[in-house]
Formats: sequence, structure tokens, C-alpha cells
Amino acid sequence: MTGTFYGVGVGPGDPELLTLKAISVLKAAHAVVVPKSKDTASCGSQALGIAAKAVDLSDKEIVEMAFPMTKDRDELFSARKEAASRITGMLRAGRDVAFITLGDPVLYSTFGCLIPFVKELLPEVRIRVVPGITSFSAAASAVNKPIAESDEKVAIIPAAYGLAGLEEALRAFDTVIIMKVNKVMDEVICVLKRLGLDGRAFLVSRASLPGEEVVTDIKSLEGARPDYFSTLIVKKSGW
Ligand SMILES: C[S@@+](CC[C@H](N)C(=O)[O-])C[C@H]1O[C@@H](n2cnc3c(N)ncnc32)[C@H](O)[C@@H]1O
Repeated sequence: MTGTFYGVGVGPGDPELLTLKAISVLKAAHAVVVPKSKDTASCGSQALGIAAKAVDLSDKEIVEMAFPMTKDRDELFSARKEAASRITGMLRAGRDVAFITLGDPVLYSTFGCLIPFVKELLPEVRIRVVPGITSFSAAASAVNKPIAESDEKVAIIPAAYGLAGLEEALRAFDTVIIMKVNKVMDEVICVLKRLGLDGRAFLVSRASLPGEEVVTDIKSLEGARPDYFSTLIVKKSGW
């Protein structure tokens, strides 16, 4: 009997924000896969820290897997193929494998990128996703602000991949969530100022984690490099 491949969202940081389902899947899993990158602010390490506060992982096989922080397709694909081969090896041996993800596994997570590679090697694989609380839910919750109400439309921009489309999104949507924003804060502030929206934005760093910080005076961040775990939300209407 092959094992089950779980993508487990561990939420944004506070271990109390893990779901009961995430806890029970982690308790039952034989192996926990932790995605690692060379980046010191690795989501995987953060996810492991969160999971370990909620569940005793001492009897689990903790398997670190390296994923390069690169846009080079060949390098990315070869790391994913290698990871898929290791994961399917464990599944074939009858082990249930939990791949942990910061926030939610279906939002900008390596887990999502791995699914086709795992399916290619093991077409009959059983995959189960355990949703997690996203970082942007935690960021909006930090200021008690709804992301959207009634007919409001929402866009999400992964800023590390460039800001093409940001201005259009800010014009077309009521709320724009900008993730992976820390390295491009100045460019984002410049666009917000040009559109007169700098007063409608707030940045939440380390939402629900120790050291959580909320900045509403966005212009004060000019020249700053916020924490990698930072999300900027622009809410054009409402309070
Ligand atoms: C690779 S994405 C992971 C997204 C995650 N899967 C989710 O559901 O939120 C990493 C980005 O998520 C955001 N992020 C993750 N944790 C955060 C936190 N505790 N507070 C604010 N933003 C966070 C930041 O924008 C960071 O650059």
C-alpha cells in the first residue's frame, strides 16, 4: 500500500492558528518534508518551527529538501524532479509524507509546484491538501480590517517577480494584496504615491509571530528593507 502525500498548511506563524486537521495529519505522518532554500528567511524553516510548537515531531523523519530561489527553469525543474523522486520513494515504501507549508499549501507554495512531478512518477498517488490560514488573512486580522466586503474585488501580486501589472491592479481592484514585497518597497511606494494611494496602504511584518509589526505610514518605509515575512495591503475604500 503506497502512502499518502499531504500538503499541510501550518498557518502564518502563531501555532494556535494551525487547524485541528493539520495537527492530526502531522501526528499520524511518518515523514515531514521541509522545503529549504539558501535564503535565510526560508518559509520551510519557519513552517517547521511553527509545526514543532504545535505537535511533537520527535518521532518523525524530518526530511529537508533544497529548492533553489531562482527563476532558471532548468534549475527549478531539476530540483523538483529530485524532490519528487525522494517523495515517491517514501510513498512507495508505504510512508505517509506531510509536506509542510507556511500559510496555505495552495498559495505560492513549493508543494503546488511539486504535484505534477510527483504524479508523473507515481500516477496513482493519493494527494490530500490540508488548507492553512494564509499570511494575508493574518495580516488583515492584525489591523482588524476586512480584505473585502460586498462586491469588492481583490487581486494578489507576488512582487518578487516584478511589478508589471501592479498599477493596472490598483486601478481595477478594490483591494490589492502585495506579497513577497520586501525587496521592492521603494518601487511599490512610488507607484502608490503616483496613484494617491499611499494613505490607503498598510504593511504587516511577521503577522501573528513574535515581533509582529504594522506600519500604516507607508512613506516612512522609503529606503527600508522590511522583513521577508511582510505583506502590504492596499484597501482603496472603507475605513
Ligand atoms: C512564499 S510566500 C508564502 C505564502 C503562504 N503560502 C501563504 O499562504 O500565505 C511568502 C510570502 O508570504 C508572506 N508572509 C508569509 N508569512 C507572513 C507573515 N507571518 N506575515 C506577513 N506576511 C507573511 C510574505 O509576503 C512572504 O514574502
